[in-house]
Amino acid sequence: MVGIFDSGSGGLSVFRELRKLLPEESFVYYSDNAHCPYGEKGRDYIISRARWITDFLLDKGAGIIVVACNTATAAAISTLRLEYPDVPFIGMEPAIKPAVKSTSTGVVGVLATAGTLKADKYLNTREKWADNVKIAEHIGQGFVELVEKGQTSGPEAEAIVKDSLQPILDEGADIIVLGCTHYPFLSETISKVAAELYPDRVLKIIDPAPAVARHALEVMEDKNLVSAEGFSMELHASGDDTNLRKLYKTLY
Ligand code: DGL
Repeated sequence: MVGIFDSGSGGLSVFRELRKLLPEESFVYYSDNAHCPYGEKGRDYIISRARWITDFLLDKGAGIIVVACNTATAAAISTLRLEYPDVPFIGMEPAIKPAVKSTSTGVVGVLATAGTLKADKYLNTREKWADNVKIAEHIGQGFVELVEKGQTSGPEAEAIVKDSLQPILDEGADIIVLGCTHYPFLSETISKVAAELYPDRVLKIIDPAPAVARHALEVMEDKNLVSAEGFSMELHASGDDTNLRKLYKTLY
């Protein structure tokens, strides 16, 4: 069984990719929406939430845990690996490397939370891969809240997306790395807003979830953790789970 957690519903964008590769697997998902967003919270707070959720998922029978949250990965995954040495943890990776290879303008846009953008994990990745390109970063201000409300399109979502996207596009970005697992649910709105602002620019959006799911599969195969007992999903949340369940239904 695969345990997945996020500060909210965003981790479903990672589940969606895992499910494609593991069609006969059982999953248990925890949305920490009573404590969402994590983006502006301190590291110790996120570590204590991640520890509590890890215990919950292990109690449910998870044999591997996917930290389907960039902010929680940056803040907590190294502590989790130390404290639970027998549990494999899969985290999110900022997809700077593929973006650097694909940009034509030489400007890579990154949208992420404040917590992710200031974390060592992100800063080290950026230093390693972004030598010859310019990185235009912006916090996706209000994006997590939109997805948590289930409001991923429409005039209000477009206005909120535009405020954070335009500065990046104005710097010349032709590729946007989504550095938060909530943001893929806003991809269509991001593309629409970008096409209105820069109709001649071909904008590529990179969601790291498929690569993270491939990595999870490799680890599971290596550790003999893949199950073939048939698909199942248990959804849990620390707050109201109405929108989590609604978003889950849109995946199929
Ligand atoms: N999905 C989380 C991430 O990937 C959102 C963080 C937040 O709650 O601010 O970073």
